[in-house]
Amino acid sequence: MGRSALQTAFEAEMAMAHVPVLTRELVEVLDLRPDSRVVDCTFGAGGHARAVGERLGPDGLLLACDRDPLAKEYFEEVRAEIEAESRFYLGNFADTLYNLSRTRFRATHIYFDLGLSSMQVDTRERGFAYSYDAPLDMRMDPGLPLTAADILNEWPEERLSRVFRDYGEERYARRIARAVVRHRARKSFERTAELVDVVKGAVPAPARFGARNPARRVFQALRIAVNEELESLRRALPDALSLLEPGGVIAVISFHSLEDRIVKEFFAEQAKACDCPPDFPVCVCGREPVLEILTSRPLIPGEEEVAVNPRASSAKLRVARKL
Ligand SMILES: C[S@@+](CC[C@H](N)C(=O)[O-])C[C@H]1O[C@@H](n2cnc3c(N)ncnc32)[C@H](O)[C@@H]1O
Repeated sequence: MGRSALQTAFEAEMAMAHVPVLTRELVEVLDLRPDSRVVDCTFGAGGHARAVGERLGPDGLLLACDRDPLAKEYFEEVRAEIEAESRFYLGNFADTLYNLSRTRFRATHIYFDLGLSSMQVDTRERGFAYSYDAPLDMRMDPGLPLTAADILNEWPEERLSRVFRDYGEERYARRIARAVVRHRARKSFERTAELVDVVKGAVPAPARFGARNPARRVFQALRIAVNEELESLRRALPDALSLLEPGGVIAVISFHSLEDRIVKEFFAEQAKACDCPPDFPVCVCGREPVLEILTSRPLIPGEEEVAVNPRASSAKLRVARKL
C-alpha cells in the first residue's frame, strides 16, 4: 500500500472512531479504587473502558462485554494498555450479566453506554445509516436471527406501525407502515435506499423536504426492534443489581427516552422504601430500599461536549448505589 493509500485508510479509521460520551462524568461518579472490579457492559471501541482502566491497578479487574465481534479487537488494544486483569465476553449483556450473577463473583461497578458505536453506524454494509445504500441488516450481533429486511418483509402492518411509533416516535407511523406493506407486495425489501424512498413517498411534502432525513426515525425504530434493545435492557438491570456487591455503583448512559424511562423506573422501584398505604399505623410490608439514587436528575453533557460530539446531545447518565 502506498503512503497516500495508508494515510487514507488511517483517516477513514479515525473518522469512524467512536468518541465516548460523558466520560469525565462517568469516571467521576464511579469513584474507582485501584482494586475495583468493574463490568463494562457495552465495550464498543473501549473509550470508557480505557478511562476506567487507567484508574485500576494490578489488583483491579475489568470485565468487558459487547455483542459485536468488532469490539473484541478494540478490547485487545485496551487489555494491552492497562494494569488490571481483564476479560472479554461476546454476547448480549443481558445473558452475560445473568451468567455472572449466578457465579460467586461480585462487581464493585457496572456501567452501560447504550445504543450504537460510530463504527457500527459508519460501516456502510451493516445498513444502520440512511445516508448510504446498503443491505437492510442492522444487527449489532451478526448471529442474530432477524434482519431489518426480515422485519419489513414479514411483520404485519399493525406491528410495523407500532414499532415506528413507539421506538421511533414517528408521527407518520401508520402511513409509513401502509406504504411498506404496499411496496413489499410488489418487491421484497433488500436495500436501505428502497426504504428511504418508501418513507419519502409516504410522508407529507413538508416532512419530505425538511432539514433532516425523513427516514431517520424509522431507521432508529428498526434498529431497536432488530436488536431487541429495550428487552435486553429490561432483562439486564435486575441481574446487574444482583451482580453488584453492597455499596457498588451502577451507571447507565442512554440516548433514547424509552431507554431512559426503563432505567429511571427501575432505579425508582428499587429505591422505594415501605409502600404501605399512608393510613397504616405501622409498616406491614417490611420493604427495604435496595438502591440509593445518586442522580436525582440525569447528568447530561455540557454544551462544549455537544459542540464537538453531536451524538452526545441526547445522552443521559443515571447512577445509583446498591445499599
Ligand atoms: C455506544 S457504544 C459503546 C461505546 C463505548 N462505551 C466506548 O467508549 O467506545 C454501544 C456498544 O454497545 C453494544 N451493545 C448494545 N446493546 C448491547 C447488548 N444488549 N449487549 C451487548 N452489547 C451491546 C454495541 O454493540 C456497541 O458496541
